[in-house]
Amino acid sequence: MIVVMALCQLQGGQGETLPDIGVNWGAIASHPLNPPIVVNLLKDNGIKRIKLFDADPWTVSAFSGSDIEVMVGIPNEMLKKLSKHKNQAENWVKHNVSKQVKEGVNIRYISVGNEPFLKTYNGSFVEITLPAMKNVQRAISKAGLGDQIKVTTALNADVYDSATDKPSDGNFREDIYDLMKQIVVFLDENKAPFLVNIYPFLSLYQNDDFPKEYAFFDGNAKGTDDKNVHYSNMFDANLDTLVWSLKKAGHPNLSIVIGEVGWPTDGDKNANLENAKRFYQGFLKKMANKKGSPLHPNTMVTYLFSLTDENQKSIAPGDFERHWGIFRYDGKPKFSIDFSGQGQDIMPIAAKGVLYQENKWCVIKNKNDKQTLGESLSYACQGGDCTSLGFRRSCSNLDLFGNASYAFNQYFQINDQSVEACDFSGIAGIVTEDPSKGTCFFPIAIQSSGNILRAMQNVNGVLIGFALIFTFFL
Ligand SMILES: *[C@@H]1O[C@H](CO)[C@@H](O)[C@H](O)[C@H]1NC(C)=O
Ligand SMILES: *[C@@H]1O[C@H](CO)[C@@H](O)[C@H](O)[C@H]1NC(C)=O
Ligand SMILES: *[C@@H]1O[C@H](CO)[C@@H](O)[C@H](O)[C@H]1NC(C)=O
Ligand SMILES: *[C@@H]1O[C@H](CO)[C@@H](O)[C@H](O)[C@H]1NC(C)=O
Repeated sequence: MIVVMALCQLQGGQGETLPDIGVNWGAIASHPLNPPIVVNLLKDNGIKRIKLFDADPWTVSAFSGSDIEVMVGIPNEMLKKLSKHKNQAENWVKHNVSKQVKEGVNIRYISVGNEPFLKTYNGSFVEITLPAMKNVQRAISKAGLGDQIKVTTALNADVYDSATDKPSDGNFREDIYDLMKQIVVFLDENKAPFLVNIYPFLSLYQNDDFPKEYAFFDGNAKGTDDKNVHYSNMFDANLDTLVWSLKKAGHPNLSIVIGEVGWPTDGDKNANLENAKRFYQGFLKKMANKKGSPLHPNTMVTYLFSLTDENQKSIAPGDFERHWGIFRYDGKPKFSIDFSGQGQDIMPIAAKGVLYQENKWCVIKNKNDKQTLGESLSYACQGGDCTSLGFRRSCSNLDLFGNASYAFNQYFQINDQSVEACDFSGIAGIVTEDPSKGTCFFPIAIQSSGNILRAMQNVNGVLIGFALIFTFFL
C-alpha cells in the first residue's frame, strides 16, 4: 500500500478530478503546444472539460474520441458576419461543429463572442452579439444538435454591477440593460447557461484599497453583510450580484457557468506562485464541498483560466496578462494544485512529448556601448516578452545587463533561435550554458506547429533568405 502511494506521488498523484472543473486554453503564443499534447495533458490530469476561444479545426479535431467536453468559441471579429447572414452561421456550424461532432468530438457549448460588451470596445459588438447568437442557435437547431449543444456568450462580470458593496443592490449595467434582458430571455428559452468570467485578482489589481484577503477564500476578510447573509470573499459576492440581477430580470432559475476564474503568476506585485496556489486551493476546496455562493449553493461547471501562459497576449490590461497559465508555455506545471479539491500539496502532471529547440540562449556579450544597449533592449522587448522584468516580478533581481540578456533571449527564442535574432548591432551572442538565475527563468522555445504555420504566413527577410537558398540547392 505504502509503495503504491509512493508511486502515485512520483507520477504527480492527481486523484479524482472534480467533474465540473474544466480549463481554458488560449493560444495567443509564439509557440503554442500542439493540440494532441494538450489532449494528453488534460487526460493525465483527469480534466474532462476544455474551453477554446475559436474553432480551429486542427485543435478541435484533436479531441475526437476523447471523453473531454469541448466548448468552442467564435471570436468577436466574426460576429458581424454571423449576425448579418444566416447562411454564414449555417456554414460555420456545418464546418466547425457538425463535421467535428460526426467525427467524435464531444462539443457541448458554443460561446458566441468573448466578453463582447467590455467598455474598451466602445459598444462595437453591442448591436450584433445577440443577432449572431440567434443565427448560430438556428443553425444548431437545424443541424439537429439543439439538445446536445448550448449556444451562449462569454460575458465579463462587468455586465452587472452594484452601487454598493451589497449583492442585493446589483443589477445589469444601465447602458446595456435592455440587451442583457433580451439575452437572458434567449438563454432561458434555449436552456443555455449564463456564462460569466469572475476575477478577484482584477479587483485587487484595479483598486489599491481593495482588501487583499477578500480576494481569497480563507475567511480572513472583514467582508460584507447583506440581508442576513455574510460574504467573506469577493467571488461569492460577485456571483450573488449576478443571481440578484437574474432574479430582478425575472429569470431566477437560469443556470450559471463560470467561463473563467484564475490567478496569474507574474507581471504584477500580486501575481506570483504563492497567491495563485492559495487562490486555486481555496477555490477548488470550495467546489469539492459543493459550495457555490450563499444564493447559488450548489456546484457549477467552471473553467479555470488558464492552461498555459500566452506570450503574445495584449498587455494593455497589464503585464500579468501573459502569465495566467497553471502550466508554463511548455506544459510544465508552475505550482502545486490539487484538481480534486482535497487541498493536497501535489504538482500536476507535466505535458509529455514536448520537443524543445536547441540548448541555446542569447545574452549580452559587449557591455561597453550603453546607447546601443538601451536601444536594443527596448527593441527586443517590443518583439519579445519582458513582462517578467521589474519590481516584485520573477526577474526583479537582474541588473541592467541582466535585463538586456533576458530581453535578447526572449527575442531570440520567439524568433526560433535564428542567428540573425541574436545580434543587436554586435553586442549579443549565443551561449550554451543556461543563464537562468534563481526565480528568473530564461526559456528555450519549444517546437510548435502553430509557430511554423504562423511563420509561413509571416514571410519575412529571414524566411525569404532560406527559401532562396533551398530553391538554389533544389
Ligand atoms: C471555422 O472556425 C475557424 C476558426 O475560428 C474560422 O477561421 C473559420 O472561418 C470557420 N469556418 C467557417 C466555414 O466559418
Ligand atoms: C474607443 O474609444 C477611445 C476614445 O474615443 C479610443 O481611444 C479607442 O481606440 C476606441 N477603441 C476601440 C476598440 O474602438
Ligand atoms: C424556479 O425554480 C423553482 C424550483 O424549481 C420553482 O418553484 C420556480 O417556480 C421557478 N421560477 C421561475 C420564475 O421559473
Ligand atoms: C530592468 O528592467 C526593469 C523593467 O523595465 C526596470 O524596472 C529595472 O529598473 C531595470 N533594471 C536596471 C538595473 O536597469
